[in-house]
Amino acid sequence: MRHINVPNKSNPDHEPSEAIKPSRRRFLQSAAAAAAVTAAPLAHAQQPAATSAPPPPTPNTAAPLMPVKLTINGHAYDMQLEARTTLLDALREYASLTGTKKGCDRGQCGACTVIANGRRINSCLTLAVMHDGDSIVTVEGLANAQTLTLSPIQRAFIDHDAFQCGFCTPGQLCSATALMDEFRAGDASAATADVRYRPPQLSDDEIRERMSGNICRCGAYPNIVAAVKTVAINKA
Ligand code: FES
Ligand code: FES
Repeated sequence: MRHINVPNKSNPDHEPSEAIKPSRRRFLQSAAAAAAVTAAPLAHAQQPAATSAPPPPTPNTAAPLMPVKLTINGHAYDMQLEARTTLLDALREYASLTGTKKGCDRGQCGACTVIANGRRINSCLTLAVMHDGDSIVTVEGLANAQTLTLSPIQRAFIDHDAFQCGFCTPGQLCSATALMDEFRAGDASAATADVRYRPPQLSDDEIRERMSGNICRCGAYPNIVAAVKTVAINKA
């Protein structure tokens, strides 16, 4: 039986009649049910994490470590290093030998020069794992630790005032030390007039050429050449 809302003249406040009350109840019940259905997905989304899908696994970005044995300035070092660790970082960050400087970190300045198995190298350009078992000499190893005396090159640098800020000096000293050995072994350079013969002594041009991989931003080149020449003449 359909109920129609007819104005009741006997009821001046237009209170709904008893006949329409069931319709209002049904309307409210329907609205409540709709709200419950709408809220259901939200309630599901707010479930505790324990019942939701597990997060994707975090990728393991740590590189595996590799054993590296170095003899540095006569002392044995056993290190565990990532394969990507440069020899320069191994010296500075793992062996705590910070005398070797990081200037450009790309083989352009020579501040990182060390001596590996008797040859001077830019330690920023080579990986530590490639030197497993090698003997490395850094600026800390040039002086005689027993007698506490500087090497001839170190003494000459002081005597000739061959530095200003000193940042390039460890590399210059290692480079000049190896230069002496290379010269005595008969190695030629781009400045050697006749590569079949070792020059009788190091000229300024020879020294400049052989030290050209070491940049000095303070411009102490004339004094560096003088220091190297002094040692070369005394050792020739
Ligand atoms: S730091 Fe190695 S060459 Fe500059
Ligand atoms: S002394 Fe300063 S860069 Fe060489």
